[in-house]
Amino acid sequence: MQQHAALADIGVIGLGVMGKNLALNIVDNGYRVAAFDLDQAKVEAAVSQAATEVPGRAQVLVGCNNITELLASLSKPRLLLLSVPAGSPVDGVCDALLQAGIEADDIVIDTGNSLWTDTVARERHYQGKLVFFSSAVSGGEVGARFGPSLMPSGSEAAWQRLAPIWRAIAAKVDPQTGLPLVRLEPGNPVREGEPCAAYIGPAGAGHYVKMVHNGIEYADMQLICEAYQLLSQVLGLSATEVADIFQRWNQGKLNSYLMEISAEVLRQQDPLSGKPLVEMILDKAGQKGTGLWTAVSSLQVGCPAPTIAEAVYARALSNQKPLRQTLATRLKGAELMGQVEAEAFIADLEQALYCAKICCYTQGFQLMAMHAKEQGWTLDFRAIASIWRAGCIIRATFLQSIMSAFEAEPQLSNLLLDERFASALNQSQQAWRRLVSGAVLAGVPAPCITSALAYYDGYRCETLPANLLQGQRDYFGAHSFERTDTPAGEKYHLNWSSPKRELVKL
Ligand code: 6PG
Repeated sequence: MQQHAALADIGVIGLGVMGKNLALNIVDNGYRVAAFDLDQAKVEAAVSQAATEVPGRAQVLVGCNNITELLASLSKPRLLLLSVPAGSPVDGVCDALLQAGIEADDIVIDTGNSLWTDTVARERHYQGKLVFFSSAVSGGEVGARFGPSLMPSGSEAAWQRLAPIWRAIAAKVDPQTGLPLVRLEPGNPVREGEPCAAYIGPAGAGHYVKMVHNGIEYADMQLICEAYQLLSQVLGLSATEVADIFQRWNQGKLNSYLMEISAEVLRQQDPLSGKPLVEMILDKAGQKGTGLWTAVSSLQVGCPAPTIAEAVYARALSNQKPLRQTLATRLKGAELMGQVEAEAFIADLEQALYCAKICCYTQGFQLMAMHAKEQGWTLDFRAIASIWRAGCIIRATFLQSIMSAFEAEPQLSNLLLDERFASALNQSQQAWRRLVSGAVLAGVPAPCITSALAYYDGYRCETLPANLLQGQRDYFGAHSFERTDTPAGEKYHLNWSSPKRELVKL
C-alpha cells in the first residue's frame, strides 16, 4: 500500500464495478480518494488502474488495508461513499465504521439501490453517531466511470459538503439541446454543461425516486422486448433486421439509450455458435427487486401504474420456463392471420411504442407525486426529468419534453394533462389500437403496450363501471355508495335484503 501524501477528500468503501468506477471518476475530477474493500485484490486493482490510466497521478487514489486506516487518511469532517450491496451489508459497514471511531459529523453516503424505507430508518438509527446520507446512482459501469445520474437526499448540510464533488462527477447535458455531453476518456472528464445531480429531498426521497426510475426502466425495457417479439413473430424478421429498425427508430422520437443498446444486443453474433447471440440467451429475466418495489408502492399509494406492474409480471412469467414449455404444446394460439402489410405494421408499432412510453413515464411521475404528497416531500419534477436526461439508464431525448411540461406546470399531477403529450397521443392512438389488435389477433403477448392503452382509455372515460362495483359492494357488504346527484362524501346504502329495498342516507 502507498503512504498517504495528503489527506484524501473522500473515502470509497466497496470497490466492485460501481465503487471502483465512481472512485476513478472522482479522481479524474481532481479529488483525492482513499479506498477500501474487504478484498485487497480489488483495492490494488483500483489503485493501479488510477495510476496507469493517467500517468503521474500515483497519489490521487490511495489504497487502505482496513477501515481504521481509511478513516485516518480522510480530511474531517469525513466523506465516505459506500458502494456495497443493498440490505444488511450497508448496516455492516456502518457498524464497522462506528467501531473504528467514525465521528458524529462524518458523512456516510449510501450509493446502492437501497429500499427507501431502509434509508429513512438508517438516518434515524445513526443520528448522533454519524450523518447517514444517501445518493442513488444510475448509469451502470460506464455511467459511474464517466458520468452517472445522481439522486442525493438527506441532510441539506451534508449535501452542501458533497455537492461540488457530485456535480463534478455527474453526467452533463447541453443546456441548449438537452442532449448528453459524452467523453469516455480517463483523466479528461466533461466539465461543461448542466450536471445530472440534484438534491431530491429528505432521507429516502432519492432512493424512492431512483426506485421509480427503475420501475420505468423495467417498463421501457419490456416495451422494446415486446416490439422485438412482434417484429420477429408477426413479420418473421431476423435479429439483424429488428436491429436495423431499432437503429432507425433511435434517430427519431424513440431515441433512447435503451433503444440504442437493444439494437446493439440484437446485432451481436454468438462467438460459439455464430448465430445471433440473442437467440442463444435463455429467455428467463432476472431482477434485483427495484421494479417490484415500484409496483408494490403504486398499489399502496393507489396510483395506477399498470405498465410498470406488467413489466414485473412479464419477468415473473418468463421465469416459469418449464410451465411455458408444457403449455406451449397444449394451449391453442390464434388462427392464421391474414396478410400483414409489413411497412404499415412497423409504422404502427413505432407509434404504439411512443404512446406506451409516454404512459409508462406518466405513471412513474404520477406515482412520485402521489407518494411525495403522502410523505410531505416537495419534489422538483422538472429537476428530476432534467437529471435523467443523461447518465442514467432511462435517458431519452423525450425527457426534454417532460422537463418542459414541468417547467410550464411545476406540480402537474399527470403528464397526460400536458398539451404536447395529449396531442402526441391523440395523433397516434389509432395506430396504437391497430397494433394492439394485430398483436392480439396474432396471439403474441404484448402486456406493456396493451396495458398502457387500457390505461390511456381508462383516463379517457368520464364514467367508469365503478358505479356497478360500488353497487356490488353495497349489496354483499353494506359498504355504501355516493350518489351522482348529492354532495360528495354523502353516503347511502340500499337495504338489498328487505323486500322494500329502502334507500338509507347514512
Ligand atoms: C441503473 C440501473 C441499475 C441496475 C438495476 C436493475 O440505473 O444504473 O437501474 O441500478 O441495472 O439494479 O437491475 P435488475 O434488472 O436486476 O433489477
